[in-house]
Amino acid sequence: MFTNIKNLFIVLLLVIVISQFLRPDKNESSYDNIASFEEATMVSSEVKAILQNNCYDCHSTNTRYPWYMEVSPVSHWMAYHIEEGKEHFNVAKWDTYTKKQKDHKLEEFIEELEKKKMPLKSYTWINGELSNEDAEKLIQWAKDNRARVNAPVDTIATTTVDSIAVDTLKVKTGDSIQ
Ligand code: HEC
Repeated sequence: MFTNIKNLFIVLLLVIVISQFLRPDKNESSYDNIASFEEATMVSSEVKAILQNNCYDCHSTNTRYPWYMEVSPVSHWMAYHIEEGKEHFNVAKWDTYTKKQKDHKLEEFIEELEKKKMPLKSYTWINGELSNEDAEKLIQWAKDNRARVNAPVDTIATTTVDSIAVDTLKVKTGDSIQ
């Protein structure tokens, strides 16, 4: 019995040691796409820091890699969550989302925070908790952005196009009278 446990322990240790050589690809890229998201969502430096410290590791193309993130099995566990997290919501792809998708992502963003489902619990063991106060700041910023996504710019653009169309019509009507 005792030797069995000892053997199992040795095997486990070997697996962990060998897995150190199987390094998952790092999730690193230029910051340009994230900067574009930050500009579009008018993020304050405070909210930006909260996102960087709690969300970007799994929801952007730039994960931070402190030493413990590079040690297996943590490295493999993180790589898996990054893959999955980016699939659901990737700030580096913000520009490619349609207006409807943006609104939907923001809606989910608020929901995940309100239900305290994000950041993932297992991640907060390593990274530290997201305080209620910081969660509130993220929620407020997301709500502001939902309002922005759903409002002005397009209305203004449509109005301008409409008035041009009306002007053209007037000219044409005038022409036909002469
Ligand atoms: C350790 C990685 C990790 C971190 C850190 C993390 N997430 Fe996630 N997130 C995931 C994974 C994995 C999913 C997809 C599976 C799920 O919904 O649990 C996800 C899904 C989401 C979704 C989409 C939910 C849906 O219904 O499709 C949103 C929005 C989200 N996360 C927001 C956040 C926010 C906001 C933060 C920071 C406060 C954050 N996440 C931090 C891994 C992470």
